[in-house]
Amino acid sequence: MYTIQSLYAFEILDSRGRPTIKAGCVLQNGIVGEASAPSGASTGSAEALELRDGDPMRYGGLGCRKAVAHVNHQINQAVQQRAFHSQSELDQFLIELDGSPNKANLGANAILSVSLAFARAAAQQNQQPLYAYFNQLLPHKRNASTLTLPRPTINLFSGGKHAGGQIAIQDVLIVPTAARSMDECMAVTYAVYQAAAKLTHQKYGARALTADEGGLAPPFQSVDEMLGDAVDAIVSAGYAPGQEVALAIDIASTHFYDNEIYHLGSEQLDGTAMIKQIAAWLDRYPIISVEDGLAEDDWRHWPQLCAAIGHRTLVLGDDLLCTNPMRIRRAIAERAATALLLKVNQIGTLTEAAEACTLAQDTGWHVTVSARSGETEDHWLADLAVGWSGTQIKVGSITQSERLAKYNRLLEIETHTHLPIVQWPK
Ligand code: PGA
Ligand code: ZN
Repeated sequence: MYTIQSLYAFEILDSRGRPTIKAGCVLQNGIVGEASAPSGASTGSAEALELRDGDPMRYGGLGCRKAVAHVNHQINQAVQQRAFHSQSELDQFLIELDGSPNKANLGANAILSVSLAFARAAAQQNQQPLYAYFNQLLPHKRNASTLTLPRPTINLFSGGKHAGGQIAIQDVLIVPTAARSMDECMAVTYAVYQAAAKLTHQKYGARALTADEGGLAPPFQSVDEMLGDAVDAIVSAGYAPGQEVALAIDIASTHFYDNEIYHLGSEQLDGTAMIKQIAAWLDRYPIISVEDGLAEDDWRHWPQLCAAIGHRTLVLGDDLLCTNPMRIRRAIAERAATALLLKVNQIGTLTEAAEACTLAQDTGWHVTVSARSGETEDHWLADLAVGWSGTQIKVGSITQSERLAKYNRLLEIETHTHLPIVQWPK
């Protein structure tokens, strides 16, 4: 039983310098849990609504004062002095208080920050590490000592909406598949990132800028150049591409899809041609995970994509699934994906995200637990990836503190628990 004395919230700034919300949950026994909400830029249209003030005179309309006020007033008044038996009871209460299908009334950012702050407070009351508390939210909870650490997929090169659109696809990530610990993953990543920074500096000079998640974003002429440079960086760091360090890509194709056509650079591809293009990249580069290969509403072609490449790579749904149990059920029934990209703020509460995670895992899918492009120094995501047995974690590059907060928390958990890292392949 957790009795809430009060809630509070305030605006903080995320890694893009835009406002987001941080909430606190004070229990009657004096325990305080705090958490902050991240924010996406490459968002799916089925995501829960992130409430912004819309006042053009303040942060270009992106202020979060309304969401903050909802926590401080409506939500606070409704939960004050109330006892909740569980996270799901609190989350259900918040969903009903909001009353809309997509959290448009109170704001998914307001609701999520409360859901997470409550989790932090509850874990403290139980004297549990946060990852162990998260683990108990799943129906198939595991003994904390049998948990695993997720394998990181780390942003090396960025494009799309995170890098001013210099190239259509959004992320080329490296996956240290042969590393035997988180510690080793980080050292391998550092070597490849440094090699990539050197290579791009030589090739593109000062134009090799970094993007929202800290990835390098030089003016690639083509996706082949982007993938080829990633392989060259792996080799120049002294690793075998495919055997020791593989690639993952987030094509984020919703954002260059219009009228049933994929506008990939100068090419115009229909769904079938896009699938062929992805298969051709898989033939040439050691890619083990393909995220949003097709657009969020191109349901017709997703099963064809799975049939074409699902035997040799993960077919990961981000905008397609939006961490939404309804969309995940449809994708399972239609064999439209083989893995879930899980972002808690796409759906808005821990309980709904836990349902999404369980649905995916019960079907045998991989789950990649993901940060957003707008992040804060909060590192609850690392605990979530461990507690929910994420097979991968996707946090961005290794150059910005909002990203490193998550990697550092994973290193901390590894040090304290000696949990093993997920093997690749599973
Ligand atoms: P977002 O992008 O956080 O900007 O939505 C991340 C992704 O597409 O995976
Ligand atoms: Zn994505």
